[in-house]
Amino acid sequence: MLAVYADQFSTEDPLSVLKVADRPDPVAPEGWRTITVKAASLNHHDLWSLKGVGLREDALPMILGCDAAGIDEDGQEVLVHAVVNDPSWTGDDTLDPRRSILSERHQGTFADKVVVPARNVVAKPASLSFEEAACLPTAWLTAYRMLFTRGGLKAGDTVLVQGAGGGVATALITLARAGGLRVLATSRDEAKRAKALELGAHEVFESGARLPVKVDAVMETVGRATWGHSVRALRPGGTIVVSGTTSGPNLDDAELTRIFFLQLRVVGSTMGTRDELAALVRMLDATGARPLVDRVLPMTEARAGFAAMAGGDVFGKIVFTR
Ligand SMILES: NC(=O)c1ccc[n+]([C@@H]2O[C@H](COP(=O)([O-])OP(=O)(O)OC[C@H]3O[C@@H](n4cnc5c(N)ncnc54)[C@H](OP(=O)(O)O)[C@@H]3O)[C@@H](O)[C@H]2O)c1
Repeated sequence: MLAVYADQFSTEDPLSVLKVADRPDPVAPEGWRTITVKAASLNHHDLWSLKGVGLREDALPMILGCDAAGIDEDGQEVLVHAVVNDPSWTGDDTLDPRRSILSERHQGTFADKVVVPARNVVAKPASLSFEEAACLPTAWLTAYRMLFTRGGLKAGDTVLVQGAGGGVATALITLARAGGLRVLATSRDEAKRAKALELGAHEVFESGARLPVKVDAVMETVGRATWGHSVRALRPGGTIVVSGTTSGPNLDDAELTRIFFLQLRVVGSTMGTRDELAALVRMLDATGARPLVDRVLPMTEARAGFAAMAGGDVFGKIVFTR
């Protein structure tokens, strides 16, 4: 089958080790299902994988991709939950120390077929296209858990989303708006700020700009470049939910004094559970909110999608189709 995969790493030039070629069809272990992939979406995680971040050399060659929507063995339209748990695990899916995400230990979704544990298969409502559904399992699920589970936000609260252009950030803006929040967003880029307004942000600001109000929570995926601004944006007792560090994890100043004096909370968040993915699907079905798709490419042209993400030239999700 056709697959987009890595068989070595490069930190300097990750696209140079990206392969688009044939790989053997997967064989589903007992209790797993084979999904015929119709659409899969690209995440920053896939670029990290090419650099060897989160992926071990002894797991190569590895088909990339965490997210997919397709057709199961019974002909049902489905999407896949990307978090694979140890079979003995019973708690919150995201707290299992032996969990992995598709494309870390088990082959990923950028292929004609992917195999996943039966419980990782979630029904796709007819109201969502395959392209839209393929955006949900990583970036959108991460955004859902950040806002409503880890952030504990509810209708009427005010949230700041840093770095409006990213896949997680555009999901945060759309979901926050659909959930009745007041949404502020920052971006370095004027055109991205304009698009964030179209997407549903109430107000947009340049990265680092002084805000007219203090917010209840900040959704942080940028890391070093925006951390200080995130801490300063919060009301006393407010919360930063952090799920990524695109600009780097090492801070010049963690703002600890402000954090303790204003009794701020710093909360980590990673992916989401299968039940949260099912709830996210129901939320989109009920509200009509939809993932913003930056571009759709045939999987054979995956390299162009990776190049766009590496260059930061993206607003919303990049989707590959078969
Ligand atoms: N923990 C999890 O489960 C989880 C799940 C999904 C993603 N993530 C992480 O979340 C992050 C975002 O993922 P994504 O797929 O949405 O990535 P992305 O498309 O690369 O988004 C990153 C955004 O960050 C902003 N940014 C980047 N460098 C910046 C800088 N120097 N200064 C200010 N802003 C900067 C940009 O916003 P502007 O250009 O608009 O300023 C960009 O659009 C990644 O680090 C990813 O690994 C984590």
